[in-house]
Formats: sequence, structure tokens, C-alpha cells
Amino acid sequence: MPAPLVIAMDGPAASGKSSVAREVAKRLGWLFVNTGNMYRAATWAALRDHLNPLDEDQVARAADSWNITCPIADGQCIVQLDGHDIEEELNNEKVNRAVSFVARVPAVRDRLVALQREIGRAQPVVMEGRDIGTVVFPDAVAKFYIDATEEVRARRRGLQGQTDTVSERDRIDSTRKTAPLIAAQDAVVIDSSHLSLDEVVTCVMNELRARGLIQPKA
Ligand code: CDP
Repeated sequence: MPAPLVIAMDGPAASGKSSVAREVAKRLGWLFVNTGNMYRAATWAALRDHLNPLDEDQVARAADSWNITCPIADGQCIVQLDGHDIEEELNNEKVNRAVSFVARVPAVRDRLVALQREIGRAQPVVMEGRDIGTVVFPDAVAKFYIDATEEVRARRRGLQGQTDTVSERDRIDSTRKTAPLIAAQDAVVIDSSHLSLDEVVTCVMNELRARGLIQPKA
């Protein structure tokens, strides 16, 4: 079986990786996949079911009952719960506070990683998350780790009008036992603290071109 065409884009909260991944996917004509939204959908399901996100056993027992799917419509991968579009709920404050606890549970990760692999094997994707280059697709054709200082990331999230404790999420994401947030050894690390979105996208496209993954003019 040929290696899947996956570009992995990992990094901490509010580092700008979603915007970069979306734009790179658009330029390549590949599917953009936001795996954070899948963990957010699982968190929304846990809160809906009145679970305690801190209770790992409780969350693990419920994980198999959640019907999370990612149908593709108009070139977009939309996260659904029980067949309903819930994107509007995914960035609310309760989800922001609970998501890193739900995402550290291995049973939750097993389910969502299987879904991510299914999507990535079916078509070329730019997939963003925390563990795409290390766990989900260690054989990705290119891996990027988009970083920025904590101060810059907190400011960016504030500008989006969100109350989000990015440093607390990063602490939990980086120290969990299963699939912690870490740059893959073969990832290209880009510090976006003092770069515009366009400049980061240019870095990524130049790297892809240098590796012969895209045509000189793409
Ligand atoms: O947008 P932002 O970078 O702040 O977060 P996100 O990508 O929506 O991810 C939300 C949370 O999901 C993260 O803080 C992680 O706890 C979890 N996550 C993960 O564990 N693995 C992934 N591949 C993606 C997200």
C-alpha cells in the first residue's frame, strides 16, 4: 500500500497552526482536517452526558458510545455528533476548560486516531493537531511544528474574543502519558511569534517545494 499523502501540522494552543494548515490545504487542493475539533466534540459529548471530565475511568467507559463522524462536504471535513453539526459548540468556555482532560484518556484517543487514519488514507490531507507527526501518521510526507511564545499565543486567543487558558491546556497536553504534545524529531519547527500568517505559509510552501513535494510554481 503506498504511504498516505499526509502533511502533519502540530503545535501548542493558539500557535496559528489551524490557519496555516487551512491555507496550505487550500493552495494544494488537499483536505484540511482539524483533529482538535474531534477532541472538542468528544468533550462536548462528555459534558452533555454529565460526566466529570477529570474522572478518566468514567470518560473511558463512555467513549465508545459517542457517535463522532467527519463527513466531507464542499471539500471540508465537518465534525458531527450523532449526525448533527456541532461546530458552534466546540469553542465554548466549558469545552476549552475540559478538553485537555478528555483528550488525555487513551480510549478516547484510540477511537479518534482510528478516524483520523481512515480520513488520511482516503485522500491527501493537511492534518493539524498535537500528535499527528508522532503518533497518527509517523510516516507523513512532511511534518511541521508551529510554535509561538506563550505571551503571543495568549494574545492571539484573546483577540479571537475567547477566554481560554492556553498555558494550562499546554501543560496538560505536554505532560500526559499518551501521545503528549511534542515536536516529531523530523519535524520542521517554525516559530511564528514574529511572523504573519502569510509568512508562515510561505515557509511551509518553500519547504514542500524544496522537498519536491509540489511543483515549483504551486
Ligand atoms: O485551537 P487550539 O490549538 O487551541 O486547540 P485544538 O487544536 O482545538 O485542540 C483542543 C485540545 O484537543 C488540545 O488542547 C488537546 O488537548 C486536544 N488535542 C489532542 O490531544 N490531540 C490532537 N491531535 C488535537 C487536539
